[in-house]
Amino acid sequence: MHPATDVSQNSLRALSDIALTINSIQEQRALLRHVLEIAMATLEAERGFILLTDDEHDEGFTVKARHNFTDAQLDTLVQPSTSVVYEVLREGAPVLIYEALEDDRFGGSESIVLQQIQSIACVPLRLKERQIGAIYLDSVTQRGRFTRDHLPFLEAVANQAAIALENAQLYQSLREENRQLRTEMQRLHGFDEIIGDSPRMREIFDVMSRVLDSDTTVLIEGESGTGKELVARAIHYNGHRKDKPFVAIFCGALSDELLESELFGHKKGAFTGAASDKKGLFEAADGGTVFLDEVGDLSPRLQTALLRVLQSGEIKRVGETAVRRVDVRILSATNKALGELVKAGDFREDLLYRLNTIPVTMPPLRFRRTDIPMLAHHFLDVYAVRSRAHIRGFTPEALKTLQNYPWPGNVRELQNTVERAVVMARGDLIERPDLRLPDQQTIDPFEPGIALKEAERRIVLRTLNDCDGNISETARVLDVSRRWLHYRLKEWDTSDA
Ligand SMILES: Nc1ncnc2c1ncn2[C@@H]1O[C@H](COP(=O)(O)OP(=O)(O)OP(=O)(O)O)[C@@H](O)[C@H]1O
Ligand SMILES: [Mg+2]
Repeated sequence: MHPATDVSQNSLRALSDIALTINSIQEQRALLRHVLEIAMATLEAERGFILLTDDEHDEGFTVKARHNFTDAQLDTLVQPSTSVVYEVLREGAPVLIYEALEDDRFGGSESIVLQQIQSIACVPLRLKERQIGAIYLDSVTQRGRFTRDHLPFLEAVANQAAIALENAQLYQSLREENRQLRTEMQRLHGFDEIIGDSPRMREIFDVMSRVLDSDTTVLIEGESGTGKELVARAIHYNGHRKDKPFVAIFCGALSDELLESELFGHKKGAFTGAASDKKGLFEAADGGTVFLDEVGDLSPRLQTALLRVLQSGEIKRVGETAVRRVDVRILSATNKALGELVKAGDFREDLLYRLNTIPVTMPPLRFRRTDIPMLAHHFLDVYAVRSRAHIRGFTPEALKTLQNYPWPGNVRELQNTVERAVVMARGDLIERPDLRLPDQQTIDPFEPGIALKEAERRIVLRTLNDCDGNISETARVLDVSRRWLHYRLKEWDTSDA
């Protein structure tokens, strides 16, 4: 098939192919290789290259993609005195040579004669009136391979390529900027894995860095998914016990008896099923840190046992009378208000006092909305790399939705939302619908047919949003207790859904 006969149909297909694929390629060389391939295939060129202007290079440009060219051939082709490429870069206009050897201007040039070039098409790459490079195609077998009919196609390819290039660069610099911001932040506080730069988070980092090298107990309070465990781990792994174990114990999961033997170990035969002597987690953590998660769930009996460890540094295995010494640092976390449990008689005041030498309160995400873009980009980086998805970022509407959402499930919910969006996104940007989050302004509590519970949820979340996430204010507006509100928010935490 001669290209001229089918120019329009083939070109259209090629153009839409380019439009579809190149915007998802973020790496410059890969992008240009792809553009060159499509242009060559459509116009049946035998050789081709793309160069970009480059101030750091003596010649003023560098060849970024090439096909069927040796170094020597390229060298002669870009000789300033005779080069078609120079002409295109200088004039900013395409050059088309129907019969190269006979051409008045370029026919005598060394490259054309030596390489027996028959016909050439070369178009500039332009971005907003700026010359940024050129696409060069030629044929060494056929005169008249390229005609005027091909020019609109080639110029359209060049335009698309220029835009995609700019996108790729923008994307690179955005990612770079984001990364730099994060590194800068981490350099400041040294806790790599904890993202956040809001005043509330800075306070947390400040307290954390003060307690690293001591053995004081730290009680980390906060709603579900606010990063309590993350903070506990960071304190351990940045502190002087980092080479010893970090043992996390979830206090709410097991029956009293089982938890006791988990924590302190047991002697063979101490109870049915105790087939051999067993070391408890406190002993396993010797020299390191024990993290008591949901410490508010401990039974009175275990509260007393724990108090003993805190006071004397001694434990007793179940069924044993001898005591053993352990050297552990204790960090604990709770999403219950322990002060209220003490008042209700459900938690020992002396234990709270021991656990709570340094209190840290994790702010809910809706109190630190300025951290949301950085967190969202962080999770995007993690999941996009993991699922090999070429996603560059979020549309402005999507980011705005993320920032305005009340986040009952806090960072964990944000994390799950981004993970899901990476899977849902079809384009190279995450769009608002990909997030699958209800738009706070449009959810209607009076929508016909919805359940009373759902209406309640909508009213609460909407009010919370109107109150900028302030729980006390929301409780006041709705005339409910803060306790009720906390309870509901936990129940609606959508992150595990
Ligand atoms: N500031 C943060 N930067 C990065 N990731 C975070 C941050 N805060 C929380 N996360 C992530 O969110 C998830 C929940 O955090 P974590 O388990 O520490 O919360 P939690 O307060 O212990 O929650 P729960 O009360 O449900 O146990 C984790 O995957 C954690 O890595
Ligand atoms: Mg936790």
